[in-house]
Amino acid sequence: ELGYFTYDPGYSSTGSCQSDITFIDGDQGILLYRGYPIEQLAEQSSFLEVASLLINGDLPTQSELVGFEDSITRHTMVNESLRIFFNGFHYNAHPMAMLTGVVGSLSAFYHDTIDINDPENRMLCAHRIIAKIPTIAAAAFKHMVGEPFVHPLNKLSYTGNLLNMLFARPSEDYEINPVAERALDQLLILHADHEQNASTSTVRMAGSTGANPFAAIASGCAALWGPAHGGANEAVLNMLSEIGSVDAVPKFIDRAKDKDDPFRLMGFGHRVYKNYDPRATIIRKTCHDVLNELGVGNDPQLELAMRLEEIALADDYFVERKLYPNVDFYSGIIYRALGIPTEFFTVMFAIGRTPGWVAQWMEMLTDPEQRIGRPRQLYTGAARRKYVPLHRRR
Ligand code: SDX
Repeated sequence: ELGYFTYDPGYSSTGSCQSDITFIDGDQGILLYRGYPIEQLAEQSSFLEVASLLINGDLPTQSELVGFEDSITRHTMVNESLRIFFNGFHYNAHPMAMLTGVVGSLSAFYHDTIDINDPENRMLCAHRIIAKIPTIAAAAFKHMVGEPFVHPLNKLSYTGNLLNMLFARPSEDYEINPVAERALDQLLILHADHEQNASTSTVRMAGSTGANPFAAIASGCAALWGPAHGGANEAVLNMLSEIGSVDAVPKFIDRAKDKDDPFRLMGFGHRVYKNYDPRATIIRKTCHDVLNELGVGNDPQLELAMRLEEIALADDYFVERKLYPNVDFYSGIIYRALGIPTEFFTVMFAIGRTPGWVAQWMEMLTDPEQRIGRPRQLYTGAARRKYVPLHRRR
């Protein structure tokens, strides 16, 4: 006896919570963080300002922003013993594996002091996670490329510090390129929250059990890694390399339409957007600006991506299914222009998504209707049967 429930695989018509954080109108292509249009935030705001907006509910005043930035800056260091942790990873470990493991391990450093029932303590955890994730990500990067770790430099901006920890080397001067810093800050803003996507739902689900926030965010990292979600940015560039040239695009479009072929156009389609993803519109433009301003010239993969988009959007299959490029279609091309290797793209997404994850985790814990997440199922297995002793089985 299962009782009454709705069968909804993939939860496409299930509202799992009430939320004040992010609004999406998928038909109109509208995305608002706490009511503010993504276009305005991407153009005029900074990532830390957006982080403060997401976790506190309103745009910070000047002094609130200074206080927030100061707190995040003070928490950027991670315990030195984490260095030993990284040594345990193989040199070619995927950086998302390192990120997921090390973010989860943070709970071991704060275990005795985490009290998720105390609002101040929850906020402290939120600040710690937002502050430390770039430090952990950059350490994973340095481990991957075999260079010494670079400590956080608190006089730098959040994004400047991230670039410095990624690219500074002891033997060289490293100057942060303001164009790169701004482009990266904008990408982080665009990824900061997206209501109940798979990784955020995972954070809420894990958090609903009373798990500590570091464990909940680690579970979000794990869910983000998949190629149908945040791993798509890495998959897009791999796909563009596989396609190779504009001439080969029609062949791959045909493959994407073939149900017997597992190939899908990575960076295309979205569960909610059935019009253009507004973030993709912004990124597409930034992509051109960044490539011009960084003087890297026209990236052949950008041209290939644009041609692919053009051919796909003229094809009945994609038009009928309302499949458009999503946030991840162009982001990889910018990351690449910034010198970030393909396998690190999803880590960049995770850094951007962290304020959204912690905001959603905090909101969930203060929701009076919050209960442990526990979907039901339609059982399709064997009917009741009798245990057969081993010696009688055939
Ligand atoms: C992100 O949810 C979020 O908000 C996520 C995100 C965020 O900010 O958190 O926006 C970030 O994850 C972006 C999505 C990145 N993933 C990709 O780019 C991977 C490629 N895209 C897909 O796998 C897919 O479109 C999803 C996962 C994004 C959406 O999957 P859905 O909603 O379950 O849609 P579906 O698979 O049921 O597709 C509907 C139809 C199917 O055809 P029919 O069976 O109806 O004939 O469209 C087809 C699909 O086969 N289809 C595609 C396709 N995506 C869907 N066909 C070819 N290429 C594709 N990419």
